[in-house]
Amino acid sequence: MAAKPKKFKFLCLSWIQITVLSLNTFIKATDLTWDENGYILYCPCMGRFGNQADHFLGSLAFAKMLNRTLAVPPWIVYRHHAPPYTNVHVPYSEYFQLQPLKQYHRVVSLEYFMDHLAPTHWPPGQRVAYCFESAIQRSPDKKSCPMKEGNPFGPFWDHLGVEFDRSVPFGGLYFSSYYIPHWIKRFSPEEHPVLALPGAPAQFPVMQEHVGLQRYVVWAETLVQDGEKHINTLLSRPYVGIHLRIGSDWKNACKLLESGEAGPHFMASPQCVGYDRQTAVPLTLTMCLPDLKEILRAVELWVKKVKARSVYIATDSESHSSDIEKLFKGKVKVVSVQPDVAQLDLYILGQADHFIGNCVSSFSAFVKRERDIHGRPSSFFGMDYPVKQEKKDEL
Ligand SMILES: *[C@@H]1O[C@H](CO)[C@@H](O)[C@H](O)[C@H]1NC(C)=O
Repeated sequence: MAAKPKKFKFLCLSWIQITVLSLNTFIKATDLTWDENGYILYCPCMGRFGNQADHFLGSLAFAKMLNRTLAVPPWIVYRHHAPPYTNVHVPYSEYFQLQPLKQYHRVVSLEYFMDHLAPTHWPPGQRVAYCFESAIQRSPDKKSCPMKEGNPFGPFWDHLGVEFDRSVPFGGLYFSSYYIPHWIKRFSPEEHPVLALPGAPAQFPVMQEHVGLQRYVVWAETLVQDGEKHINTLLSRPYVGIHLRIGSDWKNACKLLESGEAGPHFMASPQCVGYDRQTAVPLTLTMCLPDLKEILRAVELWVKKVKARSVYIATDSESHSSDIEKLFKGKVKVVSVQPDVAQLDLYILGQADHFIGNCVSSFSAFVKRERDIHGRPSSFFGMDYPVKQEKKDEL
């Protein structure tokens, strides 16, 4: 009698295994199927993570508007100060999950595209580059798209093992909804199945109507675990998270504001001054580059308001942690990890009870967007109450 249930159990397991197996084949089969509506490939070749993330949201929207599958590129991480002293190409899925993106639109990772689809459908010899006519002028032969000219362009396509065979320049087209019918007419998927572009088909900063696409950018499980571990061991809630963007490169960038000619829109600033140029509030130098006095003022205000027991500092250079500790006479725990993987900072800032960011920084903008989605409050240095953005229809 004892053997019977055992056998039964064994049978059940096999059925589960068979189901899992066939599900896997099914998923693989659907991904492997070539999309007759074509693909968009691009290099996230402008700026570091924050800029790449802004561009990613716009590119995702553009791919949906064109109804082409987006080949999600890896993140380009610049490691010139530490080994391996070159660009590192980090698959999207190392930081975020691919699956939630599919609720919005069809995507495959660019690595998957290269491994499984390119050999049959985009083989060497048939790799066409598409770019603005104006970009052609930058290429040495003045005839081809400068797909691999310089860094990070060359290393990116080399990493994927791609050489381009010919170029198709275009003019009078832009990456916005107005031009979609023109794009479709000019580049049919039958004749132009793979649109490979030197840069993101998007604007920087991200357009207001695409800000909400952040909801599909969901952290990878391993990053969540790592982030939660840091929060639980280092911080006591409530905690205020701050992003200090005050390094020397940033000081130089903010100098452009001193003359007052830059206007309210400068890099990621629409997030706090408002997207509408007509109604945008002035962008001050303090908002771009808060001094220590402003940093302490804002931190004190929000620590008191949320009765914070700790402060988490993400910084591009100094952390000012001892100044902040002194401010609260040691009664508030002040933590700065300065992790190797900047995404850990992003995660911890995203989870804070209050966040104080830098209005002009796209790194801060990533945190602000994520927090907005989850209804968590944020402010900026030099601006305790950001301009409420008018709700725009999301795609
Ligand atoms: C969009 O592309 C998908 C996949 O190729 C296709 O099934 C669908 O019919 C397309 N939609 C439109 C409106 O063309």
